[in-house]
Amino acid sequence: METIGVLTGGGDCPGLNAVIRAVVRKALQNNVKVLGIKNGWKGLIDNDTIDLNMDSVSGILPKGGTILGTSRTNPYKNKPDVEKVIATYKKLGLSALIAIGGEDTLGVSNKLIKENKGLNIVGCPKTIDNDLSGTDFTFGFDTAVNIATEAIDRLHSTAESHHRIMVVEVMGRHAGWIALHSGIASGADDILIPEVKIDLDEVCEILKKRHARGKGFSIVVVAEGAEFKAGQVVTKEEKLDSFGHVRLGGIGEILAEEIEKRTKFETRVTVLGHIQRGGTPTAFDRVIATRFGIKAMELVLAKKFGYMASLQGTEVKEVPIEVAVGTLKTVDMKFYDLAKTFFG
Ligand code: F6P
Repeated sequence: METIGVLTGGGDCPGLNAVIRAVVRKALQNNVKVLGIKNGWKGLIDNDTIDLNMDSVSGILPKGGTILGTSRTNPYKNKPDVEKVIATYKKLGLSALIAIGGEDTLGVSNKLIKENKGLNIVGCPKTIDNDLSGTDFTFGFDTAVNIATEAIDRLHSTAESHHRIMVVEVMGRHAGWIALHSGIASGADDILIPEVKIDLDEVCEILKKRHARGKGFSIVVVAEGAEFKAGQVVTKEEKLDSFGHVRLGGIGEILAEEIEKRTKFETRVTVLGHIQRGGTPTAFDRVIATRFGIKAMELVLAKKFGYMASLQGTEVKEVPIEVAVGTLKTVDMKFYDLAKTFFG
């Protein structure tokens, strides 16, 4: 009986368990055994695995997080770890590995594929940030957008009662997808994204004009990776993770202070943070994650390695993993211009 491994790496997101379930169900139907690798690449470094069977994936579809655990471990940070990953893969007798992850996890997959040491890898595109190239959407994104939208809807009523400006900071790293989608969906009065530098004069002008036409409250959605004109990325602390990413967050607070100072309108800030990554996936994410899991398994069965499941229009197809990790998928300016129609 053939054995494959499956791992979830990087930041968790809703829908990971739906992929795992789909992979296991499809594998068992094809007489393939599945080993769950614990905590991303760390599980292959430490040889930490669990057997996955019908029982272990029963009831996990609506659950957030990942039953396998995850980590931001980058084996390429410490060269001997790469050798351990390869050795464990061989020791476990794996014929393939399904790596469910974003830019970092798939970046490691791509490097391992290029090393040509006999690892057969198939990818599955995960991230709330939706910043992976080669797929129209990643799973997890829709849930994050819905969580943010609901939160902004709630902020609307309190903003209106108190005649305040509410700044809402959302995640998304260096792409403004979550900010743009949740901002459009919730009717935000301004949306600030990393792709366009923040012009404080312009932001305050929009808010003042709104107040002048009798709207005593406003909602400003800001992506955590947004930067002020001629400024730096605002970081909570200058700490880098093992993939070299700076930890983002804090722009909302600075923005709220600046807005209040310049407009004299009372302003509050809400940072949604990891709430956007937690809890049950939306139906859309459950379905797309399930389709990605089945596709990944189909690629394994067809021995089409080095590819990732991807959503193209309404079809789930495949793209080379290197396409997905080549460039960051940032917001299309045509889409941002559409959102501007509703600013102010
Ligand atoms: O990539 C997903 C994400 O949630 C980003 O939006 C955010 O910047 C980052 O992960 C937070 O990472 P951590 O969970 O390590 O704090």
